[in-house]
Amino acid sequence: MARREIRNARVLITGASSGIGEALARAMVAGGAKVLLTARRQERLDELASELASGAGEARVLAGDVTDGEHRRKLLDVMQAEWDGIDILVNNAGVGAIGHFVKADDRRLRTVMEVNFFAVAEFVREAFPMLKESRQQGKSPAIVNVGSVLGHTAVPGKSEYCASKFALHGFSDSVRNELKREGIDVILISPSTTKSEFTDSLLEDQGGTAKNPYGMTPDAVAAHMIRGIRTGRREIILSVSGTLLVWLDRICPPLASLILRRFG
Ligand SMILES: NC(=O)c1ccc[n+]([C@@H]2O[C@H](COP(=O)([O-])OP(=O)(O)OC[C@H]3O[C@@H](n4cnc5c(N)ncnc54)[C@H](OP(=O)(O)O)[C@@H]3O)[C@@H](O)[C@H]2O)c1
Repeated sequence: MARREIRNARVLITGASSGIGEALARAMVAGGAKVLLTARRQERLDELASELASGAGEARVLAGDVTDGEHRRKLLDVMQAEWDGIDILVNNAGVGAIGHFVKADDRRLRTVMEVNFFAVAEFVREAFPMLKESRQQGKSPAIVNVGSVLGHTAVPGKSEYCASKFALHGFSDSVRNELKREGIDVILISPSTTKSEFTDSLLEDQGGTAKNPYGMTPDAVAAHMIRGIRTGRREIILSVSGTLLVWLDRICPPLASLILRRFG
């Protein structure tokens, strides 16, 4: 039996202008949800919202930077004004960088942590009263944090990104238990390589890394997310290879390290 319905759910999705967030917004609106889309690129969000206007649900847009506390406050205000609350907060916005840690300056570390971790953690705190209210209204509220397989297993050359996703993993596991008694689910989604614009928007790419020609599609990731949100899964690790890597790292860390140094 479904733990929560997508139809009529009031959903806020960060990082909805491309990739996984965009695909999730499409799937949510197709399923009848009311969705507020946010990211920095207003034009991309407006295009998506007008495409979704004929869907079963509804879509609204408020562009801005998720690291800006005032923007996050406004997002919650829009949810309240438009739909009288929020049921599902999807913290999906994220950035990465490639290159050895010691060769990078401190801004790279700060930016990755601000977007991928601090903004998410603060948003959870800020949204909590409204999510609690959703529970009191008889709904099944949820926080959905988009982590990564690299939040379970670290690879060289992506130290700031791995640190941010490990932090998000630990944070999600901890607040899941804190919020359980409030009736709020915390779901951690850990995709592995996904064909999105992620590699185009890297803060830095010291290795001149090639684009990912392989990996899951954002639509496939979104489909897993919808299933996990409906059934109230605590965590989803995506792709067979991603899951194998995480388990190998748990069972035999030196072998996982060797493989990651060679092929990671
Ligand atoms: N692609 C992969 O291989 C992969 C694997 C595992 C996990 N993930 C995770 O999946 C999530 C989505 O990534 P994706 O693959 O869909 O990449 P993407 O296409 O680059 O999407 C990233 C989204 O985050 C938004 N964003 C970035 N910085 C932001 C900021 N400061 N404020 C507001 N929005 C911001 C971007 O929008 P604007 O530029 O318009 O702001 C964009 O909508 C990320 O958390 C990523 O770490 C990706």
